[in-house]
Amino acid sequence: MANRTIAVATALTGISTRSATAAAAIRLRAVAKRYGAIDVFRDISFEVGEREIVAIVGPSGCGKTTLLRCIDGLLMIDAGEIVIDEQRVSSPIAGVAMVFQHFGLFPWKTVYANVAYGLRMAGVSKDEIARRVPAFINLVGLGGFEAAYPYQMSGGMQQRCGLARALAVEPSVLLMDEPFAAVDAQTREILQFELLRIWESRPTTMVFVTHSIEEAVLMGDRVLVLRGRPSHIDEVIKIDLPRPRNRETLRSPRFADLRERVWATLMSEAREAEFKLER
Ligand SMILES: Nc1ncnc2c1ncn2[C@@H]1O[C@H](COP(=O)(O)OP(=O)(O)O)[C@@H](O)[C@H]1O
Ligand SMILES: [Mg+2]
Repeated sequence: MANRTIAVATALTGISTRSATAAAAIRLRAVAKRYGAIDVFRDISFEVGEREIVAIVGPSGCGKTTLLRCIDGLLMIDAGEIVIDEQRVSSPIAGVAMVFQHFGLFPWKTVYANVAYGLRMAGVSKDEIARRVPAFINLVGLGGFEAAYPYQMSGGMQQRCGLARALAVEPSVLLMDEPFAAVDAQTREILQFELLRIWESRPTTMVFVTHSIEEAVLMGDRVLVLRGRPSHIDEVIKIDLPRPRNRETLRSPRFADLRERVWATLMSEAREAEFKLER
């Protein structure tokens, strides 16, 4: 509770207190998921430490979104277990927030109402909502757009709103499903660095799914590479780049090495898949 209070104060004052944000550890053990006869993934085991960012890359259709939905408790798993903060996940649990690839905003609600939504669902009082929402709208740079509707905003602005909505509930776990895949390249870069800045000031446990190798290396403390059908974790690459990460990071030789390493793992998968198709 103390953590939550400090985190709200942080958002309101803009003062960063690095260790103040609530964060939870995630543990997956031998997790499997099927859709009918289709085995999506099998034997997925990994842990995400408190305030760690684990990036997951893998080809389209390998089950990244499915995996996040399982961690979020929206989908039932067929084997294994998922534990968040010592609590076994079997339905959505408080403190876990998701940011969606296609923003997932309510088109008929304003920015303010979209950001307030999760808080209302969590039973937060009107006064508290009135205090918190503007702080998070400002945090993502949308100050002045409280009354705008999603259709009036660019993709980048809509995703800022999606991010504010997720952050407003002060999650202990943030699940990001290719959050910047639907915005243009320049906006994507801006949002990546803004997310890193926000994370630096309030670090929380994060699972960051992307199909971009650069993005995975830039964000993650580790990168998990998913491959195969059913997919499994093929490789775990530790990203030992210093934080805070910024544009300089992208130019460092170590960044290039790590990117090549992830690339090589993913490409061997792509090549195998191509040859399977040709046979
Ligand atoms: N609700 C569903 N019912 C049946 N199959 C699904 C469903 N959702 C996804 N799939 C299939 O499961 C596989 C993994 O999908 P998804 O998790 O969306 O992959 P990714 O996010 O990595 O692109 C794909 O083959 C997809 O077609
Ligand atoms: Mg997906």
